[in-house]
Amino acid sequence: MKEQDQNLTNIKWHSLTIDRDKLEKMRGHKSIVIWFTGLSGSGKSTLANALNEVLHLDGLSTYVLDGDNIRHGLCKDLGFSDKDREENIRRIGEVANLFMNAGIITITAFVSPFISDRNKVRKIVGSEDFIEVYCAADIKVCEKRDTKGLYKKARLGQIKDFTGISSPYEAPQNPEIVVDTGSLDLKASVEKVISYLNKKNLLQNDSR
Ligand code: ADX
Repeated sequence: MKEQDQNLTNIKWHSLTIDRDKLEKMRGHKSIVIWFTGLSGSGKSTLANALNEVLHLDGLSTYVLDGDNIRHGLCKDLGFSDKDREENIRRIGEVANLFMNAGIITITAFVSPFISDRNKVRKIVGSEDFIEVYCAADIKVCEKRDTKGLYKKARLGQIKDFTGISSPYEAPQNPEIVVDTGSLDLKASVEKVISYLNKKNLLQNDSR
């Protein structure tokens, strides 16, 4: 038996009467996880924030979990080795799932460079509620932008394991949405995501 499974031997799941279904009804819409992935500087956080603004102004219950912010608290014990990134994404996957169970449209912005880690989150959340959005700006564009000056440091060897330079990024093979954040402006990028959500009827309560 795996160590994690052994830990569960004497622990029983407690069902809550105020469940996701009731919370979704109260909030008036379905809850989902919208998972942005892409290189550093590809526009994940900007797009997540802009999407959040639009949905919030529309009266929907939303929350953004953002890589840099989460690494100030919940994940401040983690670095950027493959193992630490795996644990980072595992934790965020679980947290995103909790937020979703609270009836909230949960928007996440993490590099999340590994297909296997993103697929584990898809499994935790459930494929029908997991919307993977690939921010597809390529490395040349991201490095040219270098909004945080990190690519420069990475090229100088001052940051190790930097995604796209000294650590891999595995692009999604079958994401729900691809946004070409290298060429599309912010407004058009937000519209692309919203039009997908509307097409799939994910922003209405009667979609369940
Ligand atoms: S992840 O790979 O574990 O998903 P996460 O999204 O939490 O990464 O954090 C990435 C952010 O941390 C980047 O936007 C960047 O600002 C910063 N960062 C610092 N060091 C690195 C690094 N070695 N690789 C990638 N991003 C880094």
